Amino acid sequence: MKLSTLSAIVIFLCVLQGIQVKGEQRTEKKKTLPAGQPGLKGITRTAFGKTGEGKAVELYALTNSQGMSAKIMTYGATVTELIVPDRNGKLGDVILGFNNLDGYLAAQPYLGAIVGRVGNRIAKGRFRLDSVEYKLATNNGPNHLHGGIKGFDKAVWSARPVSTPVGPSVEFIYLSKDGEEGYPGNLSCKVVYTLMESNELRIDYTATTDKPTPVNLTNHAYFNLAGPGTGNVLDHELMLVAQHYTPVDDSLIPTGEIASVVNTPMDFTKPAKIGLRIAKVKGGYDHNYVLDSGGSKTPVLAARVHDSKSGRVMEVYTTQPGVQFYTGNFLDGTIAGIGGAYKQHYGFCLETQHFPDSVNHPNFPSVVLIPGQTYSQTTIYKFAVK
Ligand code: GLA
Repeated sequence: MKLSTLSAIVIFLCVLQGIQVKGEQRTEKKKTLPAGQPGLKGITRTAFGKTGEGKAVELYALTNSQGMSAKIMTYGATVTELIVPDRNGKLGDVILGFNNLDGYLAAQPYLGAIVGRVGNRIAKGRFRLDSVEYKLATNNGPNHLHGGIKGFDKAVWSARPVSTPVGPSVEFIYLSKDGEEGYPGNLSCKVVYTLMESNELRIDYTATTDKPTPVNLTNHAYFNLAGPGTGNVLDHELMLVAQHYTPVDDSLIPTGEIASVVNTPMDFTKPAKIGLRIAKVKGGYDHNYVLDSGGSKTPVLAARVHDSKSGRVMEVYTTQPGVQFYTGNFLDGTIAGIGGAYKQHYGFCLETQHFPDSVNHPNFPSVVLIPGQTYSQTTIYKFAVK
């Protein structure tokens, strides 16, 4: 073979190899092999029972090299366990949950679930959009709460495990049909959980619609940094990056006012124990805080919580303009989950979101998504010790 022919072949093979490498690099970022196959490091999938309608539910476990792990199931795209180290390196769960599907299928207050289409309350389940009046399901006294009677927390989502350079991840998909619970438009939703090597659970939410519709997605995990069932969270110290909050009426609907927290029991701008002034707040904390960021393109610090017993610290970063701080006021010991009975204040929620009843308050940031736009929100729960 002539040298020139040989070099032509070598060049050809190199070019081919280059294309393959490029192709590999493209797919390397997002490997989508089925769970359990080599290549999906840190992801396992198990069956988790069936819903009342006979739909199979799967449970995904994500584990990083630090030993942190998160279990998330397809029913409600719900986080069922979140295991993080304490100050001695001992691993333990930090959220309330059940170790079987039946616990979740029974009446229970949204433990670890994704809530939507509109999380939080809509007054009387009514709103107007483009001069059409919509009437939603009401499921909380006169109001609509967390998406209605069968919200996103009660849907079985499709899941796809994905290995990413920053850690193991699972994508959950749900199509909320036009008219579901009274909402207009087919809404395609995607929620991606990623367990980062840096001990952060990152949640990326996106959605698109074919008709204008309100959207407000969040996760409803109840945290107890000392462990589920170990007692109440009143000794946890909380800091919120929020100088304002939205006061509410007796049915927890915002009055529309954006009030200052200064000199009130609502003030967590400096770290304070959750229980310090809770007795002065009627019913306990169940309020939307207006984050100082006003909402942002990339996640910024919204809250920091410290439990001195375990030494665990949790920081919450979000792109959202608000966070609902809820102290498990309605937990009354009738529900028993991992760790035992869940009594009042045994967990707290930091539900990053737009403000409650935004559809009826033109002075609140809009929650209306229109066709052609993409709704997006990102929230990160980051763990450390002190
Ligand atoms: C939200 C609400 C609370 C309560 C819980 C579920 O956080 O703001 O009022 O309804 O959900 O019990």
